[in-house]
Amino acid sequence: MSKSPVFLTGCAGFIGMHTTKRLLDQGETVIGVDNINPYYSVDLKRDRLKQLEHPNFHFHEVDISDRQAMEKIWTTYEPKRAINLAAQAGVRYSIENPFAYISSNITGFLVMLELCRHQKDFANLVYASTSSIYGSSTNMPFVEDQMTAVPISLYAATKSGNELMAQSYNYLYGMPATGLRFFTVYGPWGRPDMAAFKFTKAILAGEPLDLYNAGKMKRDFTYVEDIVSGVVAAVNRKPTNKIGERHPIYNLGNNRCEDLPRIITLIEETLGKKALINNMPMQLGDVKETYANIDKAKAELGYSPQTTIDTGVPNFVRWYMDYHK
Ligand SMILES: NC(=O)c1ccc[n+]([C@@H]2O[C@H](COP(=O)([O-])OP(=O)(O)OC[C@H]3O[C@@H](n4cnc5c(N)ncnc54)[C@H](O)[C@@H]3O)[C@@H](O)[C@H]2O)c1
Repeated sequence: MSKSPVFLTGCAGFIGMHTTKRLLDQGETVIGVDNINPYYSVDLKRDRLKQLEHPNFHFHEVDISDRQAMEKIWTTYEPKRAINLAAQAGVRYSIENPFAYISSNITGFLVMLELCRHQKDFANLVYASTSSIYGSSTNMPFVEDQMTAVPISLYAATKSGNELMAQSYNYLYGMPATGLRFFTVYGPWGRPDMAAFKFTKAILAGEPLDLYNAGKMKRDFTYVEDIVSGVVAAVNRKPTNKIGERHPIYNLGNNRCEDLPRIITLIEETLGKKALINNMPMQLGDVKETYANIDKAKAELGYSPQTTIDTGVPNFVRWYMDYHK
């Protein structure tokens, strides 16, 4: 009997494209959904989709908050595994356009929960959470069971909301779910609103790059292929539902806390060109430091990140140059 397909939302996105590609390479069938919204370059999203052309990839251009359209696709395939990556991402944009976050991250997520919980023999909904839910906590490295109820952005609040919503479905209906808290993901085909992309673009253009808080920030940077390994391991592990216990939630980071300016140095070295710096104050909603404890993901998912920024950042820069000719 052939394996049931994986339903994956956000497939034209950065992490979604890489995850879909890996699943297809492993012989899976993927039902991909994305609304190709213009939060950043639609061309980049369409170019990512071109990387996914494959007989086992079935793409549907739909908004996950559109309940009827989603039901129609879902019932065509009746998937038993789902990965929800579609979301309005970005901490800073949640200050400009808060409504986009509620529509995609809360209403859209509810649609996914409803579809999964009515599906017979449903095995696992893996969904993207974020390191941002640890807020300004200085209790590092962050561990999954520490307190996360003090979000400092609406983006973080919606992602915390996803964890709570999934937990209520897990309790009420025994619906299997797995939450993954991603830590600053970067790599080829990355997002234009993220540091590596913005820095590379500015350095190549000979323009000053905005460096917030004089660069006094630290991040646990995680290479996209390592994240994908965690996502794929999670979707293939059926979580056990125990009433009164939380559904599994894992940090997916690199377990290395790097100074942000180190990224600039690595980009400069790869390009052979110096950056011009425009120092800016700390941004509202941004956290100063992230650092993941990944022991739980190591033990239960066999998660083992392989890529340091010394390899990953040059890989990104080479992709950027190639893609932009
Ligand atoms: N990249 C990171 O560093 C990072 C860190 C923590 C968490 N995450 C989370 O991981 C997930 C994927 O992130 P990404 O970096 O690939 O972002 P991305 O923006 O590149 O991908 C998200 C995709 O979802 C689509 N989308 C958004 N709203 C939608 C909707 N309502 N209906 C259908 N499609 C919709 C977008 O068009 C986009 O292609 C997101 O949930 C994000 O919040 C990412």
